[in-house]
Amino acid sequence: MAKFKHGATPGPFIESVLFERGRISDPNHYAFVLPSLKGLMKLDLHPKVTFFVGENGSGKSTLLEAIAIANGLNPEGGSRNMLFETRASHSELYKIVRLRRYHALVPDAWFMRAESLFNVASEIDNLGVGRSYGGKSLHEQSHGEAFMTLVENRFSQGLYFLDEPEAALSPQRQLEFLVLLHQLIEKQSQIVIATHSPIIMSYPEAKIYSFSEAGVRPVAYEETEHYRVTRSFLESPERMLGHLLGKKTKNKAESP
Ligand SMILES: Nc1ncnc2c1ncn2[C@@H]1O[C@H](COP(=O)(O)OP(=O)(O)O)[C@@H](O)[C@H]1O
Ligand SMILES: [Mg+2]
Repeated sequence: MAKFKHGATPGPFIESVLFERGRISDPNHYAFVLPSLKGLMKLDLHPKVTFFVGENGSGKSTLLEAIAIANGLNPEGGSRNMLFETRASHSELYKIVRLRRYHALVPDAWFMRAESLFNVASEIDNLGVGRSYGGKSLHEQSHGEAFMTLVENRFSQGLYFLDEPEAALSPQRQLEFLVLLHQLIEKQSQIVIATHSPIIMSYPEAKIYSFSEAGVRPVAYEETEHYRVTRSFLESPERMLGHLLGKKTKNKAESP
C-alpha cells in the first residue's frame, strides 16, 4: 500500500459507524426519533464512496453531520482547522457515535455543505491562503466555481463529507465533479456524500444508502427513486407533465 507524505497509511479510514443507543440521554431529541434513524445500530461505510439518498427531511444531513462531528470536524463545515461558529443547531446524534477505524491517522478532513461555503471562503481569506486558489478569493467566484476550486485545490488524500454538492453545480460541472471525485479516490481518499443528483450517485465504486421510514438500507443505483424518476421523466416529459398537470401537454419539440 502506498504511503502518504507523513509515512502513515492512507485511506480508507472508517470501516463502520456504531450507534450506542444505551448512551442516549434525551430519547425525545429529534435525531433519535426520526423514522430512518431511530433503529440504526451500525452503518458500514464503503472504503471509497458512500452515498446517502432519500426524501427531503429523511435524515441524511443529520447523519452526515453526526459522523463528521465524530471525526473532529466543525458542525458548520470546513476543514479540521476551521472552528468558526455562527449557529448551534446540530443534533445530539454525534454523542452516541463510535467509529470503527482502519487506523487512527487521517491526513486531511473536510465537511462541506452549501451553507458552509461562505464561511469557509471567509476563513480562507482570513488565513491569507486565498492566493493558492488561482489568485482569486473564493468570494469572487460563483458558488459552483468556488466549490470546484476548493475540491480541486484543497482536497487531496483524506476523509471528506459533502452535503448536496450538486446544489451549486450545472450538469456539466457535476460530470466534472465525478472526475475530481475519481482523482480523490485514486489518492486513497474516503468520501461520504448526501445527494439528490442521479449523475453524482452514479459513481461506480460506491455504496448507496437509501433513507426512508424503513430505515437506512443499501440500494442499487438503478433502483434509486432519483434514477427512476429522472429517467422516466426524460423518456417522456409530455406523458409525465400530462399526468401531473391533468391535461394533454404538447411536446415542446413538436410545437410549431
Ligand atoms: N435542529 C433541528 N431541530 C429539530 N428538528 C430538526 C433539526 N434539524 C433537522 N430537523 C428535522 O429532522 C428531519 C431531518 O432533517 P435533515 O437531516 O436535514 O434531512 P435531509 O438532509 O434528509 O433533507 C427534518 O424533518 C427536520 O425537520
Ligand atoms: Mg439535507
